[in-house]
Amino acid sequence: MSLPGLPSFISRAFPRTRGLPFIGNLLDMRKGRIDFYSRMAEEHGSPFVMRLGLVQLIVLTDPNQIHEVLVERPADYDKSVTLSLFAEPILGKGLLTSEASFHQRQKRMVGPALSPKRLAGYAETMIDCAERSAARMIASQSVDFLEELMRATLEIVGRTLFDVDLTSDASTVAPAITEAMEALTAQFYTLLPLPPPVPTSHNRRLAKAVKVLDNVVYRILEERRRSVGDRGDVLSILLAAQDDDGSQMTDKQLRDEVMTMFLAGHETTANAVTWALYLLGRNPAVFDKARAEVDQVVGDRRLTFQDLKSLPYCLQVFKETMRLYPPAHTLSRVALRDTTIAAERVSKGQIVVMSPYAMHRRTDYFAEPTRFLPDRFLPEREATQVKHAFLPFGAGPRVCVGNHFAMLEGQILLAVYLQKLHFALSRAEPAEADPLITLRPKNGVPARVSARRPSQPS
Ligand code: HEM
Repeated sequence: MSLPGLPSFISRAFPRTRGLPFIGNLLDMRKGRIDFYSRMAEEHGSPFVMRLGLVQLIVLTDPNQIHEVLVERPADYDKSVTLSLFAEPILGKGLLTSEASFHQRQKRMVGPALSPKRLAGYAETMIDCAERSAARMIASQSVDFLEELMRATLEIVGRTLFDVDLTSDASTVAPAITEAMEALTAQFYTLLPLPPPVPTSHNRRLAKAVKVLDNVVYRILEERRRSVGDRGDVLSILLAAQDDDGSQMTDKQLRDEVMTMFLAGHETTANAVTWALYLLGRNPAVFDKARAEVDQVVGDRRLTFQDLKSLPYCLQVFKETMRLYPPAHTLSRVALRDTTIAAERVSKGQIVVMSPYAMHRRTDYFAEPTRFLPDRFLPEREATQVKHAFLPFGAGPRVCVGNHFAMLEGQILLAVYLQKLHFALSRAEPAEADPLITLRPKNGVPARVSARRPSQPS
């Protein structure tokens, strides 16, 4: 087998980007990675081929082509080696990184813990945490939404999935995640990415961050081992989960799954809700409409799970936010065998990169794509959207297992904040999107916050 991404046969039908000798588009990507795919898609359409050093990538921004890879021919691909090689030291072989056969087994075990049936049970906890978060912001007055959302979503993931209080860990966990993501992202854009065992400065930073995260995960596992019985949370399900042959997860598998849920389960949602608050802060008409909806449905009383179906505009705001700023801005796969995309041959070992961010901003799929227009997601208008063009959670067998959980959490956090807070963004200039492993606002979103109504955190 050729090494993944190294020059091999790539159909001449796929246009090539211009790049510098030897380094290809490495500098373009370092300078403006998130918009580079969009600019190239505008110039070349989809697919196009680009080069980072010696590694060639086929980049897709077309919904049908992405659907071919993720949904129609998932067996022809696996998670890209780049992800496995570099993310595995953190996530191990959890659901996010594990390869096909191992993955199917894991998903059978973890899936039920996050099914829509269990969500109502998590909603109460999410509402509690959202109210506490609003009270914290009111007390601080001057906040960074990203920092607060990392704290709030960490608390939610701790309580719902593991029945532990992780609030006091927020101040160590958030910087460790940032450190790990920056070190991993920097690796992607060096000429010669060296895997974690090689003690480069990036890898040393990564190892330090993983140690901090490991401490938290092992503490969660140890605490649970000391108690007995089903607490009705994800950890109980994982501990009790048995495969068809009766085998349970090993300690290492448990660590990897817990780490995956712990990271995938809060950082993405924190980014999405932060972006939503940022967009609301810059779009007063949308803000007023969303707030009017919450006032009408919830008023001064406590939000309930039942209210959520009467808050469709809040949900539209959250979806439109993830169209403009999808936390999982880029997905990648490696071809396991010779296959095709758009009826052209793609050879075994080829890396395929899919950019939901660039797809969501293509004018042929979304009119006025850079505008924040939640009414695009009115049910009757959503039904007329180009099929598969909105892809915040991936698709096919590797679709996000936490998608319903995340939608619920996003809607709850937004509704509670709209109900309880006055806020104004502290910076007038637009936020810069920082494409780490997930898409974050660079330097956070500082805001001034005050109480809108008397707040009574539980
Ligand atoms: C707004 C929040 C979220 C976004 C945008 C998001 C996005 C995604 C995407 C795009 C994938 C697919 C990656 C790929 O195909 O390569 C994924 C996978 C995954 N997500 Fe999420 N996610 C979110 C929240 C969550 C939550 C709350 C959890 C857990 C509670 C979670 C757990 C996972 C796991 C375990 C996978 C791997 C699934 C598999 O490979 O079968 N995610 N997520």
